[in-house]
Amino acid sequence: MTKSPQIIVLDTGGQYCHLIARKVREFGVYAEVRPSETPASQLAGARGLIISGGPSSVYEPGSPTVDPAIFDLNAATLGICYGQQLMAYLLGGNVKRGDKGEYGLAFLDVTTPQTLLDGVNSHQQVWMSHRDTVLAVPPGFTALGATGACAIAAMADPSRKLYAVQFHPEVAHTHPGRQILHNFLFTICGCVQDWDPSGRIPVVEEQIRQAAAGRKVFFFVSGGVDSTVAYTLCLRALDPGQVHGAYVDTGMMRENETEFVRANFSKLGARHFTVVDARREFLAALEGVTGPEEKRHAIGGQFLAVQDRILQSGHYLDADWILGQGTIYPDTIESGGAAKADKIKTHHNRVEGIQRLIDAGRIIEPLSSFYKDEVREIGRELGIDEELLERHPFPGPGLAIRCLCGNDSAAARQIGEGYLLPVHSVGVQGDSRTYRPALALDGMPSGEHAATELINRISGINRVVAAAASHAPLGSLRSAPAYITEERLAHLRRVDAIVRRLSHQSGFDKTIWQFPVVVIPVGVEGRPDSVVLRPVDSVDGMTARAVIMPAALLKQMTEELLQVEGICAVFYDLTHKPPATIEWE
Ligand code: XMP
Repeated sequence: MTKSPQIIVLDTGGQYCHLIARKVREFGVYAEVRPSETPASQLAGARGLIISGGPSSVYEPGSPTVDPAIFDLNAATLGICYGQQLMAYLLGGNVKRGDKGEYGLAFLDVTTPQTLLDGVNSHQQVWMSHRDTVLAVPPGFTALGATGACAIAAMADPSRKLYAVQFHPEVAHTHPGRQILHNFLFTICGCVQDWDPSGRIPVVEEQIRQAAAGRKVFFFVSGGVDSTVAYTLCLRALDPGQVHGAYVDTGMMRENETEFVRANFSKLGARHFTVVDARREFLAALEGVTGPEEKRHAIGGQFLAVQDRILQSGHYLDADWILGQGTIYPDTIESGGAAKADKIKTHHNRVEGIQRLIDAGRIIEPLSSFYKDEVREIGRELGIDEELLERHPFPGPGLAIRCLCGNDSAAARQIGEGYLLPVHSVGVQGDSRTYRPALALDGMPSGEHAATELINRISGINRVVAAAASHAPLGSLRSAPAYITEERLAHLRRVDAIVRRLSHQSGFDKTIWQFPVVVIPVGVEGRPDSVVLRPVDSVDGMTARAVIMPAALLKQMTEELLQVEGICAVFYDLTHKPPATIEWE
């Protein structure tokens, strides 16, 4: 009952490969992602191949490539960004190494209005992100268009059904993007509409029944979208009395979270859903712990212990049980960068009993072929509340990674235009992790890239924040030893709840991807902590843009936040990812 994809996206390590597949699916055409080097013989049967963009240069040794035999398949091929350069390089064109590149908005002038560009106006906004460029098209190809900085922004050899663009048709900033993908899918590849996630519900339910084969299903649920939708599908497919779930209350959750989860599962008709109160154990495991990695380690270890205890005491490892999980499509695919890293993390986090079930195939993952948006669509069809379906992502270790700790006492120090805050946070530069202080500015700087420029100029920092309001001058702020305690968590829960309420009431939460609220141990006596607001926009969390909220909303938020006990100042994180991460840890 597995579906054959009409379109296969060949992943060259770009952050956008899943976005391409999602966009194709939005046209009702089933697409899957495969590693770029998949042999052509395994791709035969697809109507079209799309080679994704990626961060490499075709000249770097070991950079991703494709099996050249794909160009002789019956499938049409579209290269995007690095995909265009790779096609040019492999088929005898000329690719120029770039130093500076072209990033952001550009205007495409169509020179040859060929099928791929049918219906595209002659001068259109597109989005570019590349260093190298194609200087000469390969034999048989024609250039189709140019931008100011890129003479060959699109090219084609229609006789071999080979097409390529330097810009990104899959992003919204490329105005003719949908038209170009539509042309490729339907006119060039001859795809037919065969994909409708909510229409798949009966098929998924049948898959669940087959996999369960009369056994009972046990889930660890997080209260997030994926595990809730997966659980609900099992409730519908099987006798609800056969589907059990446990939610571990770690004490690191947001205000009213446990009540919210409990109410939701009861509404969904869950009969055997238990909340396991492990708050004391988690707090004890975190006592005196300050470093980000140590905190993660303590929480991870505690999770394993609690999960193991639940599995053992409920006899869920016995032969009449299988395990349900809310794994979604991007989690199943090894691709470049973070996906691989995440996988390594989950591997380490696997409790032995769960790993045994997985190895024995005693596992059901009903959502493993769906993207998040598709999971939401299914959830909607199942009647799950919109409030749950539209929740922002929330990290497993919870508020513990948003409650910063430290052993030292130090003062904020003025450097140039700002103050170096005496607190370290995690960042990411190149492929490596950084752990550095943040620079605080006394007010909002102008320009979207001010933070990046400052970080490039001032060595030793990885974030820039603006002080939105403070009970004390920035120069008088100090750090003090701080740990994860019930009291600090209560303050964090309070400020987080204020931010959530106001951003929901104003509709701001709909315009962003996630809104971490962080507490840092920087302040003055009597008010030892400050709040950092971190609203970001992102596609998948791998990169992110800091979003500036409306001034009136920020003012209202800071006024309320400064009234919370123990809070000294409110900062606004202006840093994109990279060089910062989304979370502070
Ligand atoms: P960073 O901070 O690495 O975060 O830029 C990227 C995204 O991942 C989320 N995150 C996690 N999610 N377990 C999770 O389920 C984790 O341990 C974890 N750590 C970070 C983070 O909230 C952001 O959306």
